[in-house]
Amino acid sequence: MPSHPRNIVILTGAGVSAESGVATFRGPGGLWEGQRVEDVCTPQALARDPVLVHRFYDERRAKLAEVEPNAAHHALARLDAEWDGELLLVTQNVDDLHERAGSKRLLHMHGELNSALCAACGKRQRWEGALPPGSACGSCGAPLLRPDIVFFGEMPYAMHVIERALGAADLFVSIGTSGAVYPAAGFVHSARRRGINTLEMNLDPSEGSTMFDDSRRGPAGELVPQWVESLLR
Ligand code: APR
Repeated sequence: MPSHPRNIVILTGAGVSAESGVATFRGPGGLWEGQRVEDVCTPQALARDPVLVHRFYDERRAKLAEVEPNAAHHALARLDAEWDGELLLVTQNVDDLHERAGSKRLLHMHGELNSALCAACGKRQRWEGALPPGSACGSCGAPLLRPDIVFFGEMPYAMHVIERALGAADLFVSIGTSGAVYPAAGFVHSARRRGINTLEMNLDPSEGSTMFDDSRRGPAGELVPQWVESLLR
């Protein structure tokens, strides 16, 4: 671990929200245990059965009202507030728990449940409650609003921002992700190619665990506050 990192990029996945009661994707009880990705998280699924796809995200959006940020979200928000170097928190999660904990230097690379995307003009707008297929875009009026979720086969958001941040970082930290999905799973590879330090905090070994200089096993709600405390001391 660098004695004094200056520029940190942090990647989070579903594991950081698990202790808040938000379902992860893979593993026991995971979302992909109950639904097939092909049925609810591809452009083809949206074209084939928009009602099913919209309902899948409506249910997950409604659940946000029942959950709260956990100690890991709060520790990352404290780091955001107190860290005087560069910091970018890239989340694969579509929940709003990082924002609600107070993180500001935050980027959702897979979209957000509380946002709707117009398939006609590409504009995004905040969205609360159910989003029926055929809802009209607030900008161009087309009845083509869809969940603002990056589906499999679609390009994640702001990759140029993420790549620039990774290029300037001297520490890359991965929290609560299985390392199963690219391009996020490749961030540790580019960090290693640049020779910067890499840290993982995850409940189980991930697909990339052996790539990390330091791979800590345990719940994010315990490991992340300890790490942030050590960094800010
Ligand atoms: N603390 C830390 N890690 C945890 C915890 C916890 N309390 N609970 C679970 N984990 C870990 C699991 O060990 C697993 O490695 O979080 C990881 C969750 O992995 P996934 O369910 O695959 O979620 P994620 O890695 O975020 O998935 C990436 O895949 O389905 C797509 O777009 C979706 O963003 C998602 C992407």
